[in-house]
Amino acid sequence: MRLRVPAALLLCAAAYYVYLPLPPGVCEPRKLMLLDALFRSFMTAGELLHALGLLHRVHLLNWVVSLLEEVPARSCSALNVTDTTLGGVPTRVYRPRGAERARRAVLYFHGGGWALGSARMRSYDLLCRKMAEDLDAVVMSVDYALAPDSVFPVQYWDALSASRSFLSAHTWLRFGLDGDRLCVSGDSAGANLAAAVAQTLALAPPLAARFSVQALVYPVLQALDFHTSSYQQNQAVPILYRPVMARFWLQYLDADPLLEASLLLNRHSSALHADTRSKINWTALLPAQVRKHYRPVAADTGPGAAPPVFLDVRAAPLLADDAVLSRTPRAYVLTCEFDVLRDDGMMYARRLSDAGVAVTTDHYGDGFHGCMVFANLPMMSDVGRRSEAGFIRWLDQNL
Ligand SMILES: *[C@@H]1O[C@H](CO)[C@@H](O)[C@H](O)[C@H]1NC(C)=O
Ligand SMILES: *[C@@H]1O[C@H](CO)[C@@H](O)[C@H](O)[C@H]1NC(C)=O
Repeated sequence: MRLRVPAALLLCAAAYYVYLPLPPGVCEPRKLMLLDALFRSFMTAGELLHALGLLHRVHLLNWVVSLLEEVPARSCSALNVTDTTLGGVPTRVYRPRGAERARRAVLYFHGGGWALGSARMRSYDLLCRKMAEDLDAVVMSVDYALAPDSVFPVQYWDALSASRSFLSAHTWLRFGLDGDRLCVSGDSAGANLAAAVAQTLALAPPLAARFSVQALVYPVLQALDFHTSSYQQNQAVPILYRPVMARFWLQYLDADPLLEASLLLNRHSSALHADTRSKINWTALLPAQVRKHYRPVAADTGPGAAPPVFLDVRAAPLLADDAVLSRTPRAYVLTCEFDVLRDDGMMYARRLSDAGVAVTTDHYGDGFHGCMVFANLPMMSDVGRRSEAGFIRWLDQNL
């Protein structure tokens, strides 16, 4: 009997920890709260061990993920699944069994802030299996190097090296790919890499083939404006809070972590060239119903300017010139309303379209960052399943 009071207190504390006010309209808020509580617990444990100097916070997360989430390359009656390398980069390959013929193919880069995740994670493994089966396509899921051990441009180089190999006649012969139907794709930081290599290879001397389509799922594309309307609207929406995204960027670009305060005030980008500004000017690029009542935030020039790497288009594909964008392949851009990165994706779609590229935009009004990949976890959400189905449907009709 005496236990009742502490138990009730514990329950209240747990509810307080899990409870988070979420904006109306977000899909299945209770599941998102649970997911967020799980993430925060790992983050807090990571910060603690990091502060004690025992383990880098990212290493803890990746260790937990590999322990709980990594699955071996299991073949099944429908698919032959193998771990190999593509251009020297570890890659998991999913090949439909059955008639030996050239198949369309998807090169996929997983998300995780250039620091987390793996092609061997259950959620990505399930996504790639589904793509391979539903599309009767070969899917290659790339394990590029991760921060903090590797930083820009290593992730980009890995993505480029895997892409060059994917587009080579040697790889088509080895895996039975149709050289006219090759897609580059990814989600979040993986979509950043996909967009970056699509630009680079559009300009490079032609390889045996070119990508015929690019499919970008809630991409992260710029690090100059942390007050786009979606950053303002969703700064406190799990799981990608604004400061978390700023830290991922600083880590990827190997910049001073102390610049975080400067980034969060937009002080790092107070002295941009007008031409650069126009490429991220969301008041001009996005319609009023998307921007809502949010206003641009421009800081006075001060200390804390961004290092030049913040302007590197290989890191921030939204900063590419129109002439480059115009040469990139037909595009699919998926965005979610409750995502700080919504405007990154929407601005890119608009700029691609203005440059003459055929673009399909797929916006989920109740979606949140990461929902498509969490479609395969116990906390799977309805919007996760819908976005995954929409993504695969577009590939089916366009690849
Ligand atoms: C899958 O393909 C590889 C490479 O072609 C082959 O060596 C292997 O035997 C296949 N595995 C299964 C289980 O069919
Ligand atoms: C963005 O575009 C709007 C509308 O064209 C314009 O009024 C504004 O000055 C631009 N902002 C910047 C910072 O260039």
